[in-house]
Amino acid sequence: MTERSPRAPQGTNLDPWYGSYAARTAGLAASEVRALFAVASRPEVVSLAGGMPFVSALPPELLADAALRAVRDHAGYALQYGSGQGMPRLREQILDVMALEGIRASADDVVVTTGSQHALELVAKLFLDPGDVVLAEGPSYVTAITVFTSFQGDVQHVAVDEEGLVPQALREAIASLRMAGRTIKFLYTVPSFHNPMGVTLDWRRRMEILEICRDNGILVVEDNPYGLLYFDQPPPQAMRSAEEDGIIYLGTFSKTLAPGLRVGWAVAPHAIREKLVLANEAAVLSPSSFSQTVISEYLDAADWRAQIDTFRGVYRERRDAMLAGLREHLPGLTWTVPAGGFYVWLTLPERLDSKAMLPRAVTELVAYTPGTAFFADGGGRQAMRLSFCYPSPDFIREGIRRLATVIHGESALVEEFRPARRTIAPNRGALGSVLPPSVG
Ligand SMILES: Cc1ncc(COP(=O)(O)O)c(C=O)c1O
Repeated sequence: MTERSPRAPQGTNLDPWYGSYAARTAGLAASEVRALFAVASRPEVVSLAGGMPFVSALPPELLADAALRAVRDHAGYALQYGSGQGMPRLREQILDVMALEGIRASADDVVVTTGSQHALELVAKLFLDPGDVVLAEGPSYVTAITVFTSFQGDVQHVAVDEEGLVPQALREAIASLRMAGRTIKFLYTVPSFHNPMGVTLDWRRRMEILEICRDNGILVVEDNPYGLLYFDQPPPQAMRSAEEDGIIYLGTFSKTLAPGLRVGWAVAPHAIREKLVLANEAAVLSPSSFSQTVISEYLDAADWRAQIDTFRGVYRERRDAMLAGLREHLPGLTWTVPAGGFYVWLTLPERLDSKAMLPRAVTELVAYTPGTAFFADGGGRQAMRLSFCYPSPDFIREGIRRLATVIHGESALVEEFRPARRTIAPNRGALGSVLPPSVG
């Protein structure tokens, strides 16, 4: 009898280590967004897919000066390992940034992370055992879903309308999950200029949701990358401005400065914060001292509030271009009208499938993110996220024109193959209950 390697029977032709991966890696499937980045980077494609900030609106000398000072004047800190909680001076400065959204905290409450994405990872690591429930808007930020499922969390979506997460739906979700004996660990929410829907939770709902979570002993994770990128009026103040004990707040410099620096932060109650620091140290020893020093120098010397105003102007113009394009080319459809941030959520005609339609769109040289990327449960086929942050207004208009060609072509095709006599009730799509009625 011949002896076989113990891993041989489990392997596939493609990956001999297939059988060795931890069970939690089942949640690490490549997302639509990831696949799209490759396609969308071709110059002839108008990409309305990614959420890349338009960093060219940042004068290079502002950061170049900060980087020079970091190396020349602060090399002892900037080029060295640092604290697992983050640079003390930067944590002070982060308080000024958060004060713009009504948050009062102490520098001791802040933990600097490698982007807010890493804060999400640390939170998931601290709280999720296999099968634990995470409540999240339906739809929700795609890479948060990936993180939660990679820790074997079970993302349960809660309905959203044009004013954000629906409190009554949250109550009902909690009651039915509790009835089924499930353990709910936290609510993950993006209250301002939601990714992917672009909607904003009003103040009354913010308070109601905090109250529901408080009453039920459920922690809130408030993820707020876009709050300062409003177009006309600031959004309601952060939920963290009204609650300290039951909330972890996440912020980032990715959208108001530059994502390449990879600096974000978490603000958490004392005990959680201690654990976050330990988890941060276990993962990266310390967040990048260099990036933190550059940002600290930038905040000290540059008019960073004026720079955020500049970003607002850029994104407002792009939002307007997208809405004008939608009105002109797709007047029969519905979409959200964001008052800030990067995203519009477009609802397709009945029976159209955004995921199935994507290859055709790419052939027509336009890319978007199918709604399915933002649901853990397969929902979202009849919707798509359109990002207006990166392409120029002219490209956005051209992208929407191309998209309209694809949608009209696909609709005609579906119409042609429609059975003459319907025997089954029409499928209104999984999003029927959560889509906002706002028409651009
Ligand atoms: C809602 C949301 N959370 C977190 C992130 C991650 O941002 P960061 O660059 O700070 O890791 C993003 C990025 O697009 C986002 O949209």
